[in-house]
Amino acid sequence: VQSLIIDCDPGVDDAAALFLAFAAPELELLAVTTVGGNVPAHLTQRNARMLRQIAGREDVPVYGGAERPLKRPPAGAGDFHGAEGLGDLEPFEPQGIIGDGPAANAIVDLVMKRPAGSVAIAVLGPMTNLALAMKRERRLAEHLGPVVVMGGARSEGGNITASAEFNIWADPDAAAVVFGSGCQVTAFGLDATHQVRATEARIRAIETIRTEPARTTAALLRFSQRTERTLVGWPSPDWGAPLHDPCPIAWLMKPDLFSLKPCRIEVETGSDLTRGHTAVEFRVDPATARHRWAVAADAQGVFDLIAETLKGAERA
Ligand code: BDR
Ligand code: CA
Repeated sequence: VQSLIIDCDPGVDDAAALFLAFAAPELELLAVTTVGGNVPAHLTQRNARMLRQIAGREDVPVYGGAERPLKRPPAGAGDFHGAEGLGDLEPFEPQGIIGDGPAANAIVDLVMKRPAGSVAIAVLGPMTNLALAMKRERRLAEHLGPVVVMGGARSEGGNITASAEFNIWADPDAAAVVFGSGCQVTAFGLDATHQVRATEARIRAIETIRTEPARTTAALLRFSQRTERTLVGWPSPDWGAPLHDPCPIAWLMKPDLFSLKPCRIEVETGSDLTRGHTAVEFRVDPATARHRWAVAADAQGVFDLIAETLKGAERA
């Protein structure tokens, strides 16, 4: 069982990732930390607590984190996630406590008090919290276990600009700290996540599972279906919105679902034009490379894993 911290900005696809992790027997979820990203930080923190309550996992602490990127004004992606971040899910004031202190401190404490290499972190939003944690504790990078991130764009360009994917674009300075920290980072950028699309049949398979997390996941996927149609396009009847954030979680649970290539990833922080671009260099020595880039995904396998895991919780 892999111990894990999820740092996120829910966000409809963050929500799907959280429901997957909450139900996964392969993962021991130590904490959820939140960051301003898709919507402002006070909403991502509340949303994480709403999702935790829906999943009945009040045992997992939620820590609120950075309200703004390291050096830039806050961004937002409300068009894709709804004004409050969780599509058309009716907001409610969740019960359950908010963890003490900012997310960056919680990350440092949770990782440093456990054996080196034992705690993984999945970053599903702008990387501000992890960058702040690394600045706060210089030994964090070498003490961390697997670092998995959703972020970056290479072959087909970005989803927020021609060059950049949203999470990296939102806080390129933080991403540069994380990729430059020396730790092993496995990145699931758009090259992989755009292969993992929520088609009608895949949504239906989740809809038939009779648990609140499954019902909510399906409703959020339907919301994404609508935003994708109106904001991006729907080139064929069997199309679907990409499901980004569950990819790194699915990989931790079942690594065969993705093909990875060793590489070196550097982030553009200077140019306004290409801000947040991820330069993914495959001409590296695989024996010493610190980064890996997901090049291909077994999309049906990812959706089957989500359905099986949510079904497992139905039986539990
Ligand atoms: C990423 O940006 C956010 O809008 C999503 O939640 C995901 O983490 C995709 O580019
Ligand atoms: Ca996200």
